[in-house]
Amino acid sequence: MEGIYLKIWELARPYYEKGRSYDVPHIEWMMKESDKVSDMESLDKKLLMPISILHDVGYSIVDEKNPNIKRELVKKLHMQEGAKISKKILYEAGYDPEYSEKIVHYISVHDNWVLGDDTPYKECKEMAVFNDLDFLWVTKSFENFKTAAESMKMTPEDFYEFWTKDEKLTRRPFCCEYTRSMWESSIKKIKESLKI
Ligand SMILES: [Fe+2]
Ligand SMILES: [Fe+2]
Repeated sequence: MEGIYLKIWELARPYYEKGRSYDVPHIEWMMKESDKVSDMESLDKKLLMPISILHDVGYSIVDEKNPNIKRELVKKLHMQEGAKISKKILYEAGYDPEYSEKIVHYISVHDNWVLGDDTPYKECKEMAVFNDLDFLWVTKSFENFKTAAESMKMTPEDFYEFWTKDEKLTRRPFCCEYTRSMWESSIKKIKESLKI
């Protein structure tokens, strides 16, 4: 991975350490997957990588370790704060100013699906892939799945019903073969773990 992305991660990490209980592994996984899928799908890595690294940095000011993953207020707050922190980090890292402006904008709207607005994912392929990966984190492991269920005060079984009917699947279908097949294999493993 290019040094500039590791530099951005180094600057962002202290914020994530103050964030949700799983923020550090979440971002490390997003970085690894974004790097891989950028090469496979010929995406603009200069845009996708910083978005993946910085998108949830605003949780550092949210005083909850496992907030409800669908709560609108928390979503709005972490996007607003995340945009401000990201602007500072990108400046400090000496990142391309034109890209930085675009990255900060997309961080300020990265979870806009919660407001019923899918524009970012429609207008920008990198944002569509980002949204796929961010959604896929939940089913990456059974541990992640249980944490997400707990955030919504649901049993893993009820959460399985809920997650497999999530509007993401019809409103913002997986945008490439890589993420689509990751969904299929990961949800199958979750089902096996639940023995249903
Ligand atoms: Fe987010
Ligand atoms: Fe995220």
